Amino acid sequence: MQRLTVSDKTWQALLRLKRSAGGATAEPDRDDPAWQVYSPLVCRSRSSFVIAQVGQSLDGRVATASGDARDISGPDGILHLHRLRALVDAVIVGVGTVVADDPQLTVRDVEGPCPVRVVIDPAGRMPSDAGLLSGKGPPPLVIRDRAKCRDAADTIIHLDAIDGRLSPHSILGALAARGLHSVLVEGGANTIGAFLNSGQIDRLHVAISPIVIGSGPAGLNLPAIERLDQALRAPCKTYDLGSDVLFDLEYRRDRGG
Ligand SMILES: NC(=O)c1ccc[n+]([C@@H]2O[C@H](COP(=O)([O-])OP(=O)(O)OC[C@H]3O[C@@H](n4cnc5c(N)ncnc54)[C@H](OP(=O)(O)O)[C@@H]3O)[C@@H](O)[C@H]2O)c1
Repeated sequence: MQRLTVSDKTWQALLRLKRSAGGATAEPDRDDPAWQVYSPLVCRSRSSFVIAQVGQSLDGRVATASGDARDISGPDGILHLHRLRALVDAVIVGVGTVVADDPQLTVRDVEGPCPVRVVIDPAGRMPSDAGLLSGKGPPPLVIRDRAKCRDAADTIIHLDAIDGRLSPHSILGALAARGLHSVLVEGGANTIGAFLNSGQIDRLHVAISPIVIGSGPAGLNLPAIERLDQALRAPCKTYDLGSDVLFDLEYRRDRGG
């Protein structure tokens, strides 16, 4: 397994490439694991790029049964997550994560810009005192079900739900219309599951921390399957982050939706 460290030279090249929106830049060593892992987020040869990331325990949990979700990932897992945030245009969470964890979704542990923060909140369950609304930075974009939302604001995106669900393809289309083309789906389990199940993920990063929790919610929720040959499989590379191990899975995104 390759060790994934990010030199300042490589990080600066990635930030330059992001700023130049895919234009020419001095390119570092293509064999550098850091370049292999992070450059797809900023190389705009594709019209858009969607990555999902889960930080979980060895036994696949993202919180204790009572909901304590802090410090599941080790320091290098958190650093990895902040690198992903710094390189994308937008980070998406479901309202369940806002209610459970009250996250900031900002970039704090690395140099780089904060992404536009997006909450999928069809029925308007986001608490009015959520840190995303009261903390530093511009307010998040909120994706609402048109049938359940009469409010109008620049920060609200109305979409039509089908059987109560908003299509990940339409969510990505609405973000692309606002110039947000590279997207990190950060959780939780149901949100990532919906994107993965509808074929709207290019990459899935699962960062595993060597702790065992024993019970509690899983990081990914998909419809039940009967046989293992129905399991989602994808080409996978593994990297030693230091405190955590990264599984980098490459899916074939359904760009037609
Ligand atoms: N370790 C990690 O990497 C990580 C990261 C993030 C979160 N988490 C954990 O994940 C847990 C929360 O996960 P969760 O699955 O319960 O909640 P979630 O995925 O954050 O939010 C799910 C809710 O968001 C809305 N939603 C998301 N996608 C939708 C779609 N396509 N169409 C319509 N509505 C959609 C729905 O809201 P309505 O119910 O209002 O319809 C849905 O119930 C927490 O325990 C948190 O700690 C872990």
